[in-house]
Amino acid sequence: MTDEEKGDFVKMGDPNMAESKGKNSKLILAVLGALLVLVAISIIIVIIFNKDQPETKEDKEANSWDDSYKKADEFISKLNLTERISLLYGTENMKYLFPPTLKDESERKHLCVGKIDPLKNDNVDFKGMCIQDGPAGVRYANGTGMSWHAPINTAATFNRKLMYEVGKAQGEENKEKGINTILSPSVNIMRTPQAGRTWEGFGEDPFYSGVCAAEVIKGIQDYGVIATIKHFVGNDQETYRHSSSSNIDKNALMDIYVEPFYRPIHEAKVGAVMAAFNAVNNTYCSENKILLTDILRGILDFKGFVMSDWWSVYSNHSDTFNSGLDVNMPGGRFCGPFDVEHMYDNVGRDHSHWSALEDYVKNKIVEEKRVNDSAKRIIASMYQMDQMEKFPEVDLYRDTITEERKNLQRKVATESQVLLKNDGILPLKSIKKIAVVGNDAMERDCGIEGELDCKNDTNLVVNGNVPLGYGSGTTKFSYLVTPLQGIKELAEKNNISVTSSGKLIYTDEKRGDKIVHVSAVEDIETGVEVSKDADVVIVFGKATSGEEYDVVENTVGDRLDLDLWHGANELIENITEVNKNVIVVINAPPVVNLPWLNKVRAILFSGFPGAETGHAIADILFGVVNPSGHLPFTWAELDQYCTKLNSLGNLTVIDEKTGKIWRDEYRYDGVDSAGLKDDRENHEIEQYNYTEGLFVGQRWFNKYNKKYIFPFGYGLTYSSFNYSDLKVSMSKEGLKAEFNVKNTSPNLGQAVPMMFLTFPDNIGDYPEHIFKGFDKVELKPDETKKVTILADDHALSYFNVSKNKYTRINEGIIKVYIAENGNMSETKLMAEINANYM
Ligand code: BGC
Repeated sequence: MTDEEKGDFVKMGDPNMAESKGKNSKLILAVLGALLVLVAISIIIVIIFNKDQPETKEDKEANSWDDSYKKADEFISKLNLTERISLLYGTENMKYLFPPTLKDESERKHLCVGKIDPLKNDNVDFKGMCIQDGPAGVRYANGTGMSWHAPINTAATFNRKLMYEVGKAQGEENKEKGINTILSPSVNIMRTPQAGRTWEGFGEDPFYSGVCAAEVIKGIQDYGVIATIKHFVGNDQETYRHSSSSNIDKNALMDIYVEPFYRPIHEAKVGAVMAAFNAVNNTYCSENKILLTDILRGILDFKGFVMSDWWSVYSNHSDTFNSGLDVNMPGGRFCGPFDVEHMYDNVGRDHSHWSALEDYVKNKIVEEKRVNDSAKRIIASMYQMDQMEKFPEVDLYRDTITEERKNLQRKVATESQVLLKNDGILPLKSIKKIAVVGNDAMERDCGIEGELDCKNDTNLVVNGNVPLGYGSGTTKFSYLVTPLQGIKELAEKNNISVTSSGKLIYTDEKRGDKIVHVSAVEDIETGVEVSKDADVVIVFGKATSGEEYDVVENTVGDRLDLDLWHGANELIENITEVNKNVIVVINAPPVVNLPWLNKVRAILFSGFPGAETGHAIADILFGVVNPSGHLPFTWAELDQYCTKLNSLGNLTVIDEKTGKIWRDEYRYDGVDSAGLKDDRENHEIEQYNYTEGLFVGQRWFNKYNKKYIFPFGYGLTYSSFNYSDLKVSMSKEGLKAEFNVKNTSPNLGQAVPMMFLTFPDNIGDYPEHIFKGFDKVELKPDETKKVTILADDHALSYFNVSKNKYTRINEGIIKVYIAENGNMSETKLMAEINANYM
């Protein structure tokens, strides 16, 4: 019976029926009314509770790129060509920030390191886009933001949840300060520990770097800030970064160097990519069509926008936009950042580049649809993050330091400490007197400026603790818990007395009319003296590195060697002569030489743990927290790695007036102001040949039996774990390994089971024991937990050059290894499985 028939039936039927219909209607109305009230209440509850909540994952997916593209298309249809072009050029603010020429703080707080300017016409009111560094906190925030730990420390936690939390907290801070786009994370691969920016990345492994970056990006973007994954690609050293080519074959390019960008694009839907300074296979990244169009937009299906690294548009602007670059940052053209007098002649401020691009479009050298595509991608990324309607005003000095963020920073910094050696002396117990020795344990003598622009500009020596490296990725600290402070706090609680020594002894030189410190050494004599009668001596050693535009103690970004600075090795050796209970703590970028390895009782690699450095170190030494950090890189002597960088010592020049040391390589001729001429014709660039191909990091050490001191993934705890009952299965989703982990110690601890795979022979000379999965599991004493690790479809794929795509392995036998680190001779569990999942 249809509704119509039902209706007729009632109409024609007996009155009872009509009456009962009347009663029913009342009942239905009452129920409906109640339901409506309930729905309204639920909506109000949802609104109240979700007011400040970030969008859920489901909401985000619904708000897909397609949707954002549509909205962006509509937006840009309201702009004329000049206006659309204006979105493609940043405006440059570094002039006022570095060196800081603009004295007025109230103006400086609105200046981002890159900005797309606001735009207003009769139909649109675009508020612009503020773009700001970086991975360890907000740059130029003048001590109003958190000074987070280095990303290499985040990676050392092997804790996905913490990676996400750090990203989320950074996203929140950036949004509160009105920053639309954060220039983080960086995923360049550590080919050699000399590379100056290793601390800004996630280590040597492509799979792991991709996972870390994806988690951090999800955190940042869940809070409505666009993340920028950088530097695409092959910027794996600082030396000659503006005038070098990383020559990489397609296999290695895709499976090692592009791989860390894959998950961030596919899983985390990252909004922006930064093209690297260098060339790849002799074409600069910012004008490299193979990279920006074929690989990034084609194979990786990237939907957001690509910006250049700062002043890395080297030739004419038609090449860059035609290759697939979307934004020229910060709006100009390479001219040598330290030719301060001229560096701003060539930037986009005068808009001469805009008219040049407009001419290219009018002359059909650049297609208009290319301009539209770039404009669409920029605006769509903002729609993706819900930034187009409403976004906080830029105020870099808004205070974003909270107790909650400090606690998170401390937690992550502590979990990132990697215990390399311990003969049982740690955690500290039954002692009465500790000596803390070494300059790294002490306060900084002229403030903790990431940019090192202490009041005494000529002080090239780092005096005091190094909680972060230098360059754009660092921050100005509002506070720093020094190692000495952290240790004293806990020692006091345990009635332990602390003596210390950590002065530097300087060598000075007259430069121009100034006396400058040119080098320094540790005060060994006092160090030895205070160590003699201590129960335990904790010796601190440091080194630092960073971007090549700063030269610190002759280190032009990349390190010349891996020794601890200021003669700390000699200090340690001397102390071991007078005290047998020596513990060494290292604040440095990945890897330093350990000539005293067998003479000390414990070694803690602390990396760069940020503001909470002292707490993180002390919590581990005293056993307040059980160490669970692991190395995201292989630790070896320099000549065992697959590459070594040239020394740049002889390329530095000293400015006689200021005593500053600059790099010489910038000073090549012929940069024009409109950017119309390619003037690099006769300029030879340094060739970095990545001859090791796929065999980088742990793969290199395995393949060629190179000697390492500590393998990838290494890290001790105060617990021990037992692994059993491995079951491996294969399905469309991927390879699943299930097993049990038991805590066999009396301490609460965290195990980090790692999964390494060897693919079948039929894919050629492919590395064995590739890192493809991990978990972090907290276990009480005697507790056993079941762990499941999935190597998904992409993790089971390799880049098939002849098919020009990632291809999943679906025949042959895959070998599965469950281990605690990359030393395969200590594998805990093993199995084999057929790759076929059909
Ligand atoms: C660095 C980038 C950074 C940019 C803006 C460049 O020197 O390579 O990583 O984001 O400066 O500060």
